[in-house]
Amino acid sequence: MTEEKIVPAKNLLGSLQLPGDKSISHRYGMLAALAEGKSTFANFSTGADCQSTLACASALGAKVTRNNGLVEIEGVGGNFRKPASPLDCGNSGSTMRMMAGILAGQDFDCELFGDSSLMRRPMARVQKPLRQFGAQIELKPDGRPPMQIRGGKLKAIDFASDVPSAQVKSAVLFAGLQASGITSYDESIRTRDHSELALRAFGAEITRTRNRISIEGNQRLLAIDATVPGDISSAAFFFCASALFPKSNLVVQGVGLNPTRAALLDVLSSLGAKVSMLNVEEKNGELTGTVKVEHGRLRSLKIDASMAALLIDELPVLAAIGPYTEEGIEIRGARELRVKESDRIAAVAAGLRAMGAEVQEYEDGLFVKGNQKLHGATIDSFGDHRIAMAFSIAALRAEGETIIKDSECAGISFPEFFTLLRQISEV
Ligand code: S3P
Repeated sequence: MTEEKIVPAKNLLGSLQLPGDKSISHRYGMLAALAEGKSTFANFSTGADCQSTLACASALGAKVTRNNGLVEIEGVGGNFRKPASPLDCGNSGSTMRMMAGILAGQDFDCELFGDSSLMRRPMARVQKPLRQFGAQIELKPDGRPPMQIRGGKLKAIDFASDVPSAQVKSAVLFAGLQASGITSYDESIRTRDHSELALRAFGAEITRTRNRISIEGNQRLLAIDATVPGDISSAAFFFCASALFPKSNLVVQGVGLNPTRAALLDVLSSLGAKVSMLNVEEKNGELTGTVKVEHGRLRSLKIDASMAALLIDELPVLAAIGPYTEEGIEIRGARELRVKESDRIAAVAAGLRAMGAEVQEYEDGLFVKGNQKLHGATIDSFGDHRIAMAFSIAALRAEGETIIKDSECAGISFPEFFTLLRQISEV
């Protein structure tokens, strides 16, 4: 178990370019593995989660070569090979849930498992639609992994999920791509649309009318070359940190600005920070740009269920800076946080309390009172990357040193985090 010591900073300065977005890298990795031809990706995520996806792709017969951020994948042209052993998804819920959608349409049986955190996470949400397609999916009686999949010929379905989840949507679209007929997915609460954009980039036809997405089955995917946009959920830690320092001057270049992922920038701006964007471009449907977040009077913020779904991975760091706002941050409608890599509502409340803050915890969220001083503390990250990084940011403005326990978990999404944080912090 590693620990990181975070000392308070006087200011944040610098210009950064971040490794590729985790969500987009997973999708590009999976679809390239299934496609015909050789895909090449620059700036692929360096996190362990996307490495789990690539390892599964190799075990399924795709040829994957990797040189840091440069990844080449020779796809199988539609038919994976039965893996020799169960597929290890590591800590990655995205790998297990989205891969399940692809494997549902493949004519063999296999098993998916993961680390102790992943083995506690709910999978019935993908089992339900995939069974409707006609695949056999078995889980433990409580709906947790391991997941046994017997895939084969699928029949299109019409599905509305009762959880707002881009992973469930992706599993349904990936299975629908291989089914006979037109599959439709209704999302009453909008979630990230990287799968829709990636499917289109790989040549599939997919349509959206309001909240309903439809995909025709038996479509071929063709290899692409792409640069993965910098990960906005990683940049989020630095954006929130910049907002805390009156003289900060931190620029993040080439960061993904997909509107279903960039809600943090709207929220920071309505909280009182100054947000500016430059050089916005679009490629393969994904926007990128240069972003600068500057300090302003940080007042108050209320986040409801539809905002929470778009900000789900950024909520821990937003809550962690809540004490430094004037009137606090309230998050509701975010029950999903309880079933992430850790129970993120409990983990955030515990960390803030350890630093001396008052927090009100709800079943579906938190209220973090504003205008509170934090002191350094020893923080349990619960092995959850976003908790480790969120409290590193809170620690920059606390009094005294903070120790982040089990800090290596940051490598799940952002192995470079602590090095870059030290690089931009003036202490
Ligand atoms: C993700 C969707 C979200 C998010 C996760 C990545 C994705 O999970 O928390 O980090 O890439 O689709 P849910 O779909 O479970 O909300």
